[in-house]
Amino acid sequence: MAESRPEQIDHFKERYGIRYQGLVADEAMVVSAMAYASRVGVQVMQQGGNAVDAAVAVHFALAVVYPVAGNLGGGGFAVYRTSEGAVHTLDFRETAPEQSTRDMYLNANGKAEPGWSRNGALAVGVPGSVDGMVRLHERFGTQDWASLLAPAITMAEDGFPITALQAERLRDVQDDLLTYNTHDRIPLLGIGWHSGDTLRQPDLARTLRSIQQYKRAGFYEGENLQRLIRSVQAAGGLLTPNDLRSYQSVWREPIQFDYGAYRFYSMGLPSSGGILLAQMLYHLSHFPLAGMGWNTDRYLHLLTEVERLAYADRAKYLGDPDFVAVPVDTLLSAAYLDERLTLIDTQRATPSEAIEAGTIEWQESEETTHFSIVDPAGNAIAITTTLNSRYGSKVMVEGGGYFLNNEMDDFSIQPGVPNQFGLIGGEANAIAPGKRMLSSMTPTIIEKEGDLYMVVGSPGGSKIITSVLQAFLNVTAHGLSLQEAVNAGRVHHQWQPDILYFEDTALDSLTMAQLTARGHTLRERSPYGAVDAIRILPNGQLEGGADFRGDDAAMGW
Ligand code: GLY
Repeated sequence: MAESRPEQIDHFKERYGIRYQGLVADEAMVVSAMAYASRVGVQVMQQGGNAVDAAVAVHFALAVVYPVAGNLGGGGFAVYRTSEGAVHTLDFRETAPEQSTRDMYLNANGKAEPGWSRNGALAVGVPGSVDGMVRLHERFGTQDWASLLAPAITMAEDGFPITALQAERLRDVQDDLLTYNTHDRIPLLGIGWHSGDTLRQPDLARTLRSIQQYKRAGFYEGENLQRLIRSVQAAGGLLTPNDLRSYQSVWREPIQFDYGAYRFYSMGLPSSGGILLAQMLYHLSHFPLAGMGWNTDRYLHLLTEVERLAYADRAKYLGDPDFVAVPVDTLLSAAYLDERLTLIDTQRATPSEAIEAGTIEWQESEETTHFSIVDPAGNAIAITTTLNSRYGSKVMVEGGGYFLNNEMDDFSIQPGVPNQFGLIGGEANAIAPGKRMLSSMTPTIIEKEGDLYMVVGSPGGSKIITSVLQAFLNVTAHGLSLQEAVNAGRVHHQWQPDILYFEDTALDSLTMAQLTARGHTLRERSPYGAVDAIRILPNGQLEGGADFRGDDAAMGW
């Protein structure tokens, strides 16, 4: 078993000391960004609910206890595998408003104004999360809908004590809340938030009650619709009642591929996650990674080169498949990938300009949230959902108590102009009314020899895909426990800018020197991503991996 390769374990131990494992449970588990939300999911399953019931309850709980990314006003993707092995993926990604135009973020001089797509009401796409939860529950849920929203409503009404990290983020966002709203009915407003302070959200509780009572109509019709449109239009946004009423989630085919003994099911377009994961692992399958050692220069060089190739394809070809023809079969074909493989120099970095043109820099914010659930019957669900940036557009619906996304920034607002993640795109990801913006969200379920093996995903903007990749490889190629795998320092390359980013725990000084000698430009950056995953151990128990970069928590029994 790759899991017990002693030399890799020693290598890790040498660098980081004693080994450790995540929570181990026998029956069921939830791993999410907040303990309150994980607990809600566990309780739903203990009362007889399945993984989808738990997911619905966790999603609405996160909308309350994790307002930075948990949401009613955003969108996301779900990958669901039944205990019999059937896999279903749901796309509840936001769409561009009907009044949006291709050049809506260009100023009078034809120059892109990235601020317009990142903050304020003009950045808001049509939210998909509530419709997504309703669709999931209608098809696979077993418990009473109202009961699944009850814990979230209670936490919104009674309040909950915030963590130190939440207090810091709340302090940071104060100016933006005032700048991008035309009202001050925002419970997050306040000076001097501290760990342990209680956050109560009565308006959010009312919106949740409306969804509890009327399901989809409680959000996309009636009072909530009026409030949402009023707030967006007052702040200069484009959403119309028809945008809300016509929003529909879409069941899509998963991206399915094999890597050795593992079969992957991940999200297809409009997320780039599954396609890039498949491309990168196809290329990596040609190299003996396990013998290279964890985060050695030889290993990281290869990782970088396959990431460079995949992200170059992302920029050129990928977009909403309902609007543009994307050659997915070709991009995933052995013939195409074998040809791309010849571009990899196994010794030296290939400059990204030699792959495709362009040089860019970016400022980033990477708030999204992911949760993984396995229920006692063995059904598993991976959901990644987002407002895009931290607190999304920063626009809160007056009287509704929830933030609206700034997902429009995930479109290519002008060819060659980077979004907040530094991703550039072209025609395939240009804005059009009703179109979904390209995503990097990568909720993924992995089988090993036909059995459920791992449920995984992460926030992190463009770095989501490489975070998921490294979490998987850390376990399967390097023998780390799942908890070690998600905590381990990460690296990231996305073709442009031609920089290999690393967290400080990812590289030692020797490896840095070796990578530089191979021609890589290195840059340290602050910790990113939050991989929340579950692995099925060889004895059938579940191991949780709750990322230590945030307040993430695994719970189970
Ligand atoms: N908003 C981040 C993503 O969808 O990739």
